[in-house]
Amino acid sequence: MNQGDLPFIYLDHNATTPVRPEVEEAMLPYQGRICGNASSLHTLGRQSRQAIEEARDRVASAIGAGSEDIIFTGCGSESDNLAVKGVAWKNRSRGTHIITSRVEHPAVIETCRYLEKNGFRVTYVPVDEAGLVSPDAVAEAITPETVLISVMLANNEVGTIQPVGEIAAAARARGVPVHTDAVQALGKIPLDVEQLGADLVTLSAHKIYGPKGVGALWRRRGVKLEPLIHGGEHEKGLRAGTENTAGIVGFGRAAELAAAELEQYAVRVGQTRDQLEQEIMAAIDQVRFNGHREKRLPNTLNLSFEFVEGEGILLGLDSAGIAVSTGSACSSGSLEPSHVMLAMGLSPVDAQGAIRFSLGRDNRLEQIPSIVSALKETVERLRSISPFYRQPEEGGEKD
Ligand SMILES: Cc1ncc(COP(=O)(O)O)c(C=O)c1O
Repeated sequence: MNQGDLPFIYLDHNATTPVRPEVEEAMLPYQGRICGNASSLHTLGRQSRQAIEEARDRVASAIGAGSEDIIFTGCGSESDNLAVKGVAWKNRSRGTHIITSRVEHPAVIETCRYLEKNGFRVTYVPVDEAGLVSPDAVAEAITPETVLISVMLANNEVGTIQPVGEIAAAARARGVPVHTDAVQALGKIPLDVEQLGADLVTLSAHKIYGPKGVGALWRRRGVKLEPLIHGGEHEKGLRAGTENTAGIVGFGRAAELAAAELEQYAVRVGQTRDQLEQEIMAAIDQVRFNGHREKRLPNTLNLSFEFVEGEGILLGLDSAGIAVSTGSACSSGSLEPSHVMLAMGLSPVDAQGAIRFSLGRDNRLEQIPSIVSALKETVERLRSISPFYRQPEEGGEKD
């Protein structure tokens, strides 16, 4: 699909992506004709099973893993829950301490909060102003009671890439398994589970041009998990429920394409993202960069526009046909500033002004002038009615 087919200039790929035509095509037979339950013994059931196993091979090979270690789930959030609660419940008699970071996705943070209400103790390791977790801080938090460390590979809001390899090396020396949420990393940066050294890795299909409602958890052999969903023996007894054959097939095809195109994606999207940033900075004063300059996903740009709230900018751009995202938890109806921005040391006001531009494979350099002009017009309009707005000082440096 090219961007021209979409009603918007879509810059919200970290939220979700459109399903690629190649993926749709691969899924189609399993949404209709090949309707068999993968556990059924007849031909249609066996065809469904075979398609699932081929998809498992594709997802596994996209991350340098063995197929038998992939567990398909209903989404990335479920994989995070299965990893964190699964290890916690299984090891409760050994210890009740978990280490995570302050910038995790709610699927990890809220799971940890739930475990805190159920007898676990959780250390939320802080981050620096670029959103980076220190491996030393994680290592220092390990106690004999620690049963799991969960630190994401790449942050969804600012794109900061965490030193998960170093964390895993320190954890291995202490015998503590490491989970990483790689939902945002898959298809954007190289991901090889053996090189990474983590023990559990969360993936989701809909961030890589696959369908919504399918995820996977890669589990290193020997890591024991308590299932969340009990019932049939699906997915080695770790996730009961008739498999979503079409969704899994789509995930497999999307993962295969993402792995094959990774290099060209990273270069092209990275160049477009960098050009967008330069042009925004040249056109608009008093803009703050959020995130890490080098250790960052190639598609993600997060900026705070001083004196204006992110929601106002989002709505202004939306009316110009441009889709972006804010960091605040507006989806839950609250306008609380993002926990990620606050953890990075932004004031609540700066955190409220943050906008995430997350680019995808269809964005083009030619779209930049319309994005920048709509953004400049929106920010100037909002600043002109803001009682707090102050012009930058004459000759003063831009942020
Ligand atoms: C880092 C991260 N983890 C987990 C998830 C949840 O994935 P899903 O939407 O498949 O539940 C997301 C999606 O927003 C994410 O960005």
